[in-house]
Amino acid sequence: MDFYIDTANLDDIKKYNDWGVVDGVTTNPSLIAKEGVSLEKRIKEIIKVVDGPISTEVIATDSEQMIQEARKYATWHDNIVVKIPMTIDGMKALKVLAKEGIKVNVTLVFSPGQALIAAKNGAAYVSPFVGRLDDISEDGMALIHEVTTIYQHYNFDTKVIVASVRHPRHVIDSALMGADIATIPAAILEKLFKHPLTDKGVKSFLADWEKVKDKQ
Ligand code: E4P
Repeated sequence: MDFYIDTANLDDIKKYNDWGVVDGVTTNPSLIAKEGVSLEKRIKEIIKVVDGPISTEVIATDSEQMIQEARKYATWHDNIVVKIPMTIDGMKALKVLAKEGIKVNVTLVFSPGQALIAAKNGAAYVSPFVGRLDDISEDGMALIHEVTTIYQHYNFDTKVIVASVRHPRHVIDSALMGADIATIPAAILEKLFKHPLTDKGVKSFLADWEKVKDKQ
């Protein structure tokens, strides 16, 4: 299972990349806006840090403009994956871009039907948003179960990126369901590393060692 980091914050990307847990990066217009930077500049900075798929999202809402934007992003680097929303225009754009060999991550996926259409139209990745479904009292992880099951039935090459991750359990359940990737916010990545018994264990090993270190 790959871990992507779900942020446009360069310091966090560098930090967690050094920890060995960043196989790729996902961004979206809100994450870029939060950093208050130029999209192109930031994506090019991220490319220099992480050697893996970097998702950058189109702003256009009509298919022709989406295609133009996607083609431009794709010239930045081979690792660029263009995020296209799960709309009718998005699917029209996807059909064209997939034929050109441009990798597309279909985003804002909230139903198995949407995931099926995205795969049929040639998406390289699909991003079901689990947290936003949980937020409205639906079952985000049930969607991951359905999408992974459907994709297995038909051997789709489309990879499932579990998005809108809110806590480590989302990541673990995604792994149990065989999702290809989870894109994880920095705070959740950090939580995945930690366990109080690990900290307690390190502390007590060191305390015991103190007692005998002069005898070494
Ligand atoms: C990733 O591709 C998505 O843009 C992201 O996970 C959305 O997360 P949010 O629901 O926390 O905004």
